[in-house]
Amino acid sequence: MNILLISGSMNPDSRSRILVQAAEKALQGMGVKTRLIDLKDTPLPLCDGGAAYDDPRVDELSVLIKNADAILVGVAVYNYDANAALKNLLELTGSAWEDQVVGFLCAAGGPSSYMSVMGFANSLMLDFRCLILPRFIYAVGSDFSENAITNPEIQKRIQRVAEDAKQLALFRSEQ
Ligand SMILES: Cc1cc2nc3c(=O)[nH]c(=O)nc-3n(C[C@H](O)[C@H](O)[C@H](O)COP(=O)(O)O)c2cc1C
Repeated sequence: MNILLISGSMNPDSRSRILVQAAEKALQGMGVKTRLIDLKDTPLPLCDGGAAYDDPRVDELSVLIKNADAILVGVAVYNYDANAALKNLLELTGSAWEDQVVGFLCAAGGPSSYMSVMGFANSLMLDFRCLILPRFIYAVGSDFSENAITNPEIQKRIQRVAEDAKQLALFRSEQ
């Protein structure tokens, strides 16, 4: 079992990255092998529907995405959507996501954008037949202090999301 975590925020002080790191720790505590890709440290070309697909980093990421048993994505909520770097990753790697199990760990400024990951999720579901974990993380500034999660409910929920990812990945591998 190998679960890929993708941190999508470009912000060096990202809160979704803290969620991703906590999920990685939870998975490792359950004996799951993990790999964490931070898009901040993985410069990618902007998808142009053409030459950008030839970038070797796109190939490398596509292989990691395709070969993972499940993927947890750290999302920075921007303009009621997943942040552009993540959308760009999906545009670049498209079919590598086919039939994947995908969960979300979202950081947002306030509670009103709770449904904002649905555009990204819809593409994964409808374009690439992904199984989306129905339980996801949606954390706001008050759930953190400095670079730590201070809301125990968020911490507990991360554990549940990690367990759900493992369960659904196992279920999928048995089909
Ligand atoms: C360009 C931009 C757009 C944003 N749009 C929203 C939004 O629509 N809804 C919201 O709740 N927060 C919004 N925020 C706040 C971010 O979601 C918040 O700062 C979050 O922590 C970003 O994730 P990160 O810390 O992992 O980078 C926005 C922030 C920026 C910079």
